[in-house]
Amino acid sequence: MAAIAEVARPAAAIRACIFDAYGTLFDVNAAARAMAGELGADWQPLANAWRSKQLNYSWLRSLMGAHADFWQVTADALDFALDERGLNRPDLRRRLLDLYYNLACYPEVPDMLRRLKQAGLITGILSNGAPAMLQAACASSGIAGLIDHCMSVEEVGIYKPDPRVYRLVTERLNLPAQAVAFHSSNGWDIHAGKRAGFYAIWINRTGQPAERLPNPPDVTLDSLDDVPAILGAA
Ligand code: LAC
Repeated sequence: MAAIAEVARPAAAIRACIFDAYGTLFDVNAAARAMAGELGADWQPLANAWRSKQLNYSWLRSLMGAHADFWQVTADALDFALDERGLNRPDLRRRLLDLYYNLACYPEVPDMLRRLKQAGLITGILSNGAPAMLQAACASSGIAGLIDHCMSVEEVGIYKPDPRVYRLVTERLNLPAQAVAFHSSNGWDIHAGKRAGFYAIWINRTGQPAERLPNPPDVTLDSLDDVPAILGAA
């Protein structure tokens, strides 16, 4: 990770800070981890398989022209991951989905959002998540009052990284893309955000190698902690 002093600064003044939701603000491992007592060592492979299938289904449905909302996709992906492990028990499925609906955020998120808002920046979410899921996770993680705009792909009926999704931000906020800082822990999502013209900050929480895709991010961090400092809002 680059030291903050060496980070490429935005070309224009940043007015809005937009965040991917799942994996960036909300801890996608939290549901399976909360069931570790019951799942044992299998909780992390299950969480990984669930997440990976969830994203795959979002891309496949987009290519197939067969959109279903992210709650449906999340439940379908869990069914596959449980089935793969011979764990298809209705009680387990129900509890994991309840936990996923009410996810916790990563520990640095509330304070980071508070600092951005104190500096007068607009905050928002741009997510695959269905509106009701996003509202529930904002409430359960205690950040509902810190998010000014919650934008869902349901407004365009196709998943990230379709360019129509990223245009929701500039249309809703009536700002040029260069005035928006976009943050995602998903490499493919941050490349698409950069392609849309945003100042792109990759939150590489798990030390992934760089994606071999066009439009690399401006900055890579390992958590959201340093975002206010980079945007001059510390
Ligand atoms: C989202 C997925 C990509 O929140 O994590 O959009």
